[in-house]
Amino acid sequence: MPSNTSLDLLSTLRGLLGEVHVLTEGDLSAYEQDWRKRTRGKALAVVRPSTIQQVTEVVKACAQAGVSIVPQGGNTGLVVGGIPDATGTQVLLSLRRMSGVRSLDADNLTITVEAGCVLQHLQQMAEQAGFLFPLSLGAEGSCTIGGNLATNAGGTQVLRYGNVRDLCLGLEVVTAQGEVMHGLSGLRKDNTGYDLRHLMIGSEGTLGIITAATIKLYPLPAAQLTAWAAVPSVAHAVKLLGLAQQHLGAGLTGFEMMGQFALRLVDKHYPQLRVPLWQDTPYCVLLENSDCESEAHARERLEKLLEIALEAGCVSDAVVAESLGQARKLWHIRESITLAQAEEGLNIKHDISVPISAIPHFVESTDALLAREVAGVRLVNFGHLGDGNLHYNVQAPEGCDTSAFLRDYEARVNRLVYESVKQFGGSISAEHGVGSMKVHSLPHYKDPVALAMMRCIKHALDPQGLLNPGRVVD
Ligand code: FAD
Ligand code: MLT
Ligand code: ZN
Repeated sequence: MPSNTSLDLLSTLRGLLGEVHVLTEGDLSAYEQDWRKRTRGKALAVVRPSTIQQVTEVVKACAQAGVSIVPQGGNTGLVVGGIPDATGTQVLLSLRRMSGVRSLDADNLTITVEAGCVLQHLQQMAEQAGFLFPLSLGAEGSCTIGGNLATNAGGTQVLRYGNVRDLCLGLEVVTAQGEVMHGLSGLRKDNTGYDLRHLMIGSEGTLGIITAATIKLYPLPAAQLTAWAAVPSVAHAVKLLGLAQQHLGAGLTGFEMMGQFALRLVDKHYPQLRVPLWQDTPYCVLLENSDCESEAHARERLEKLLEIALEAGCVSDAVVAESLGQARKLWHIRESITLAQAEEGLNIKHDISVPISAIPHFVESTDALLAREVAGVRLVNFGHLGDGNLHYNVQAPEGCDTSAFLRDYEARVNRLVYESVKQFGGSISAEHGVGSMKVHSLPHYKDPVALAMMRCIKHALDPQGLLNPGRVVD
């Protein structure tokens, strides 16, 4: 039963936003359950402001009542960082209603959008205006640009364009005190003190609420050619990456590696996608050449690369998409691995990065370690090889109770994988962030001085601990 303070707060919030945008009853699972259906929280209320003014007033009212806030965008996060805890005392602040475009400056190659704008919509708006917004990930139909910035999302074009951090020029942020940091700069150079934009990007709602962003646009490439290749090993995939970088240069805009079992799951759950070449090879690679000159030039360079790779023995077979539609089908297969995993059942995710040169040895030694220590586990190994980022995921052994498997083995499997990542000088979170899932692992793998500095920054900007407590830093 909410306390008097909470009841007073609820009536204040209803006065600010209207009854219909302060949800306390009915099915709130879209806001309270994480995408992987692993955790279900309970909010005091789900509030849906539509203006920056309303966000500041909600934050001030919560600060006054000492009630913490969990900001949420598309709720596609994979580290349980954007749903309320189970206490029923937190306000879930959804940015989804703030999805407008504030401005597009073609000559400055920038667009300013509100945080709740869905990524796919942003991609389409950029394309309609004749530009490319090069952030692309499997959740793009639901995730929001505010959530992308809060998690410093990566995706499949980081290789060429960087993480979303590299695509953002300015931010509008509401602070834990309910004030507005007006930072929607379209400047590529502004060297006036600490870069608070970069502090907010990747802070996962713990330092401020992103309400709008000014982001870069790029010229649309004249052609995007996609190839799907069968490769005999991880080492051969890394060799192919080197050849692709050598022969395609800046035209190489995507390089994804997919293990055979990952593709088996896609074939099992989505047979209509007709996954090519997967049955007879341990790994496949999806690579893209976005040559700015012409389709003919892009095709010629890609086919030349594949010839060289076949001769070098790092590719055993390959197909080049004959049309944009075919290319999109190949990317759809790649993006379906996460969904196929979810269909197969609860799984243990490791979103890790190691130096690209260390990837073959990391995979070989960690595969062997898990086979020894946890009999029967099935490895769903795939990811953004071009960034040294693997989704080294573990599916429960065939036919076993997945919830029991996670309960009995997840901590142990995490430790085995993370210790291996540490040995190879890697990171235990390459792109998904820390959320609440990795907040207790972080102290074992993060430099202690860096962690202490992170805690100082959190205390300085959010002394009441109002913003997304228990995420990123405990
Ligand atoms: P949410 O899930 O709503 O929130 C994520 C975090 O950001 C939470 O901590 C939340 O509190 C905070 N937050 C959200 N909005 C704001 C805001 N406006 N201000 C401050 N804090 C905020 N991620 C990748 O990086 N690369 C991938 O390739 C990738 N592929 C995916 C594929 C699938 C099928 C799925 C389901 C997820 C994938 N993800 C990937 C993870 C997820 O999509 C990203 O982390 C995405 O950026 C989250 O955006 P969102 O709007 O859903 O954020
Ligand atoms: C992806 O790249 O598809 C996701 O980040 C990986 C995952 O779901 O584990
Ligand atoms: Zn990913």
